[in-house]
Amino acid sequence: MSIMHILAIETSCDETAVSVIRARQGNIDVLSSEISSQVALHAKWGGVVPNLAAREHVKNMPHVFQEALSKAKIKPAEIDLIAVTNGPGLIPALLVGTGTAKTIAYLWEKPLLGIHHIEGHIYANFVRECQNPNAKCQTKTADIKFPVLALVVSGGHTQLILMKKHLQYEIIGQTLDDAVGEAFDKVARILGIGYPGGPAVARCATQVKNEELKFKIKFPRPMLNKKNFDFSFSGLKTAVLYETKKNSELLKDKTYIAAVCHEFQQAAIDVLVKKTVRAAEQFKPKTIMLAGGVSANKELRTQLGEAIEKNLPSVSYKIPALEFTGDNAAMIAAAAAFRFEKMTQAQKKNLLQNWKTLPTNANLKLS
Ligand code: KG4
Ligand code: ZN
Repeated sequence: MSIMHILAIETSCDETAVSVIRARQGNIDVLSSEISSQVALHAKWGGVVPNLAAREHVKNMPHVFQEALSKAKIKPAEIDLIAVTNGPGLIPALLVGTGTAKTIAYLWEKPLLGIHHIEGHIYANFVRECQNPNAKCQTKTADIKFPVLALVVSGGHTQLILMKKHLQYEIIGQTLDDAVGEAFDKVARILGIGYPGGPAVARCATQVKNEELKFKIKFPRPMLNKKNFDFSFSGLKTAVLYETKKNSELLKDKTYIAAVCHEFQQAAIDVLVKKTVRAAEQFKPKTIMLAGGVSANKELRTQLGEAIEKNLPSVSYKIPALEFTGDNAAMIAAAAAFRFEKMTQAQKKNLLQNWKTLPTNANLKLS
């Protein structure tokens, strides 16, 4: 891969994100990664309101865009490729990103590439952890060997994906109902401990001390013993609801809330870790990767790592840097770098027409 500069845009949910990266021989250096979060706006609704998200993207995009270019100290002429998340996600939100990307691609006469949001999350693992491209950085990408087994955990997805090589995905298991991040968010709402729910539950779970064990709360580990690699988190969330309804007078007791958070988080992690290890035993990957917003969860990061070390000592383990776990545009640019590299000259040339034709698809499939 020769040196390339890629500008990427991500607006699939409630973050307006623009990034500029430099890709060089498979190394992805982030020159800027700007994110404007709408968390405070959606907090009062307890979830993301699509039309509000779109309106905020429109409002924030020019500033985020300008900031990303200026922090990267780069001129439009030096950008080789525009990349944008074109699905899946909330359609009003996605359209702000793709509309912006198409306009820029047209005005600057650049090739334009649409990237699947989950492909972006996976490729967050290929972003170099050292942010100074001129320093001698440790290249973590060297630790990643195919086949890769990716555990994708976000607000919309929970999937085990086998990658025999770059950009090739085989979904070997996924959630049959709620995504794990969605379950964290709903449990936080049941407990009234804040929004977004994932970090709130994780924080609350750390408050647990031995005395909380007196509550003897035990939640199910859904589908743990099923032979397939699918997940289900809606029953776990309902179990939390029943538990708290049964003991509603305890909801004022912080130690009780901490015990519920802890047991819920552990139940979710037990299933994710066990199924990932079992999938690895069957599919024999060389690397296991964690991806998506829930990969920020410290306990999940640690416990999956420990399980791999114990059960699969020859398998390497890669987790994204914390700043690239949630939605960001650097991961979209990273995926675009690998996609562009694999294209023929004719395909690359066709990308110049994408400002006219790139579809935006709320239900885009990973392929
Ligand atoms: O990937 P992401 O930023 O957006 C989607 O593509 O969905 O993931 C967001 C999800 C939310 O459900 C959020 O609560 C969850 O990731 N999350 C966490 C943590 N940080 C974010 N879940 C558990 N523990 C965390 N520390
Ligand atoms: Zn995401």
